[in-house]
Amino acid sequence: MTVNTLSIIKADDWHLHLRDGEALEAVIGHTAKQFARAVVMPNLKPPVTTVALAQAYQSRIEQAMIKAGIPAGSFTPLMTLYLTDNTSPDEIVRAKETGAAVAVKLYPAGATTNSDAGATDLLGRCSTVLETMQRVGLPLLVHGEVTDPSVDVFDREALFIDRVMIPLRKAFPALRVVFEHLTTKDGVDYVRDAEGPVAATLTPQHMLYNRNVIFQGGVRPHYYCLPILKREVHRQALLDAATSDSPRFFLGTDSAPHSKGLKENACGCAGCYTALHAMELYATAFDQAGKLDRLEAFASLRGPDFYGLPRNTETITLQRGSFVIPNELAFGKETIVPLAAGETLGWKFC
Ligand code: NCD
Ligand code: ZN
Repeated sequence: MTVNTLSIIKADDWHLHLRDGEALEAVIGHTAKQFARAVVMPNLKPPVTTVALAQAYQSRIEQAMIKAGIPAGSFTPLMTLYLTDNTSPDEIVRAKETGAAVAVKLYPAGATTNSDAGATDLLGRCSTVLETMQRVGLPLLVHGEVTDPSVDVFDREALFIDRVMIPLRKAFPALRVVFEHLTTKDGVDYVRDAEGPVAATLTPQHMLYNRNVIFQGGVRPHYYCLPILKREVHRQALLDAATSDSPRFFLGTDSAPHSKGLKENACGCAGCYTALHAMELYATAFDQAGKLDRLEAFASLRGPDFYGLPRNTETITLQRGSFVIPNELAFGKETIVPLAAGETLGWKFC
């Protein structure tokens, strides 16, 4: 039987880039419409490295919400700290005690957008901080790619498992770890079978596309993100994981806005913009797999369960129907191109 309407508990986005200033004001309304909460990534310039900076950033997000006319209390930004070689254990304790941050994000130095200040030697220089996080129960969110320039860009996640993830989790077995924006079958196998508190977020683009889409008819920068899209076998493994019974795989869009000019560029930025139509994209992927009945667990239940937060109570409705993704959206003085611009999706968020 074809399902034409899908009502589920309102979802949360466990991996989101909101930026700051005009960009923040341009994008906040999209996420606040689709999601009740979002884990906001700290890779601003300069990065959000302290409780004070996280609190200040959260206030700017709240100001942007007011300016955008988003009803107070309808959306909650959950803040994160950016791990550096100099993060202090006291800051971790303060983050936990005040609730100013729900997690700490690891950007291996040089891995992606604004990662220059990231950790250079996780198990060496950050070990006291990791021990403190393990003790107080603050999760580590991991950008899981090695940065070794001799490693092929398509192999960087798989190698990260052996070089960083396994030693890290052996040293800190009770540390809560989220393998962010997982993109490979290797990653899926690791997260599914590992012992202890480990989970992963999955983006819509990695579930919908393989790497061919980046080169279809010419180079297409709006399909370029990090970690980069992989082969079909990996896409299939991610879709299988998302639609499985495992509680370890949940929604994180990694919506990462960059202006059209910075994407359509000789050295284009990495990131796909999906905040506008995230639930429609996920519904399309789940529908293609014949697993729409699994969308609610993936989008709305497993994330809060992992973070130890209450599930949302409000419901949302997705309806079957044609939704043409706009070619461009306003983005401060510039514009932004959403993922799959101009294409038609079979689901609409009501
Ligand atoms: C992100 C960004 O632009 O901030 N880009 C991306 O391609 N995902 C950074 C990140 O999450 O790697
Ligand atoms: Zn990200």
